[in-house]
Amino acid sequence: MKLYKELSPSLRTIMTPGPVEVDPRVLRAMSYPILGQFDPEFTELMNETMEMLREVFQTNNQWAFPVDGTSRSGIEAVLVSVIEPGDKVLVPIYGRFGHLLVEISERCGAEVVMLERDWGTVFEPQEIVDAIRREKPNIVAMVHGETSTGCIQPFDGIGAACREADALLVVDAVATIGGVPVMTDAWQLDAVIGGTQKCLSVPSGMSPITYNERVEAKVLRRKTIERGLREQGAEVSGRKPVASNYFDLGMLQDYWSPKRLNHHTEATSMLYALREGLRLVLQEGLEERFKRHKRHEAALVAGLETMGLKLYGDPDCKLPVVTCILIPEGLDGEAVRSMLLNTFGIEIASSFGPLKGQIWRIGTMGFSCNQKNVLHVLGALEAVLLWHGADVNAGKALQAALRQYAHAEEKQPC
Ligand SMILES: Cc1ncc(COP(=O)(O)O)c(C=O)c1O
Repeated sequence: MKLYKELSPSLRTIMTPGPVEVDPRVLRAMSYPILGQFDPEFTELMNETMEMLREVFQTNNQWAFPVDGTSRSGIEAVLVSVIEPGDKVLVPIYGRFGHLLVEISERCGAEVVMLERDWGTVFEPQEIVDAIRREKPNIVAMVHGETSTGCIQPFDGIGAACREADALLVVDAVATIGGVPVMTDAWQLDAVIGGTQKCLSVPSGMSPITYNERVEAKVLRRKTIERGLREQGAEVSGRKPVASNYFDLGMLQDYWSPKRLNHHTEATSMLYALREGLRLVLQEGLEERFKRHKRHEAALVAGLETMGLKLYGDPDCKLPVVTCILIPEGLDGEAVRSMLLNTFGIEIASSFGPLKGQIWRIGTMGFSCNQKNVLHVLGALEAVLLWHGADVNAGKALQAALRQYAHAEEKQPC
């Protein structure tokens, strides 16, 4: 009989755009005893999680709850519930995750209109406003922070244009929630999807979402109750239901409302983890947390540029929590990444599609976003690049990062 070793994962320094390191308090929360899903003690934890999500999403929406599954489960739940076959969905694309929105929308039976931008840049919001007026879509689906390119899309005027055109605005804020401001109500976003494994620093496995009454109205038009849960004489709508049972927001919201209508079995330990992660976010304070992410980004960028490395992408739309570096010519990017991992225990990311082999991506997200990690990654990267014969300014990067930290402290003593 084969004997399997006891589980003992290595302690890594994770500087990727997710998953990132998790606060030990969150890991501890995951080890607490299981409660039944309708135990009042547990439903109270569900309600508190909803309250905290409203704060993090900066919204007064009634609906703010996690979908069980990775971040794309939240995206699928929103899109499959709001897209009726034949609906027109406008997707502005400036990286890999815009294409994911297209892929999911098409599977939901939408007629998709794509608006494409070169990777490494974003749209002028007016271009999207013009496209909304021209195309008159039922839904606009777009990404806030593109982890594939390290760019962030501004939203000025896009929400208002969607209201004017009676279109729903669905936003993937998987990478930005908890690290960069996501102002659901102020920006007039109708549905927002967040991720746990990035700036919230909770393991992957849940996707917090929020949506407003405009979305709810559309969801309710196709609302059904599972056959086995219907009470005798209950009315049955004649409309074709949402194509997914697991991701039907109408059913999910019945489960997350005081009705507690049975649906899936809630992922107890993940809910504990999310609640603890959100508690830590709010304890730190959203504004403080956003500033922390900017502070460490500035030190990382100062170090990389002083080393002589070139950053990828338009600096005017740089995503503060992901920094992309052009791999110097003639260097094997994967050899550098594997030496970082195997010799220093540090993980950084590569990229996808047209950027495969062209850039490295360093995340400064959540619990991983700290001075120790930034200094370690700079020191180790310099050593590995020198080992591979790259032409870098040796001995300068850490000094530049330290200066940046000292400067930040002078500006804002903590
Ligand atoms: C911007 C963005 N959207 C969506 C996803 C998909 O998330 P998941 O892999 O958790 O399903 C990711 C994952 O990296 C992402 O960065």
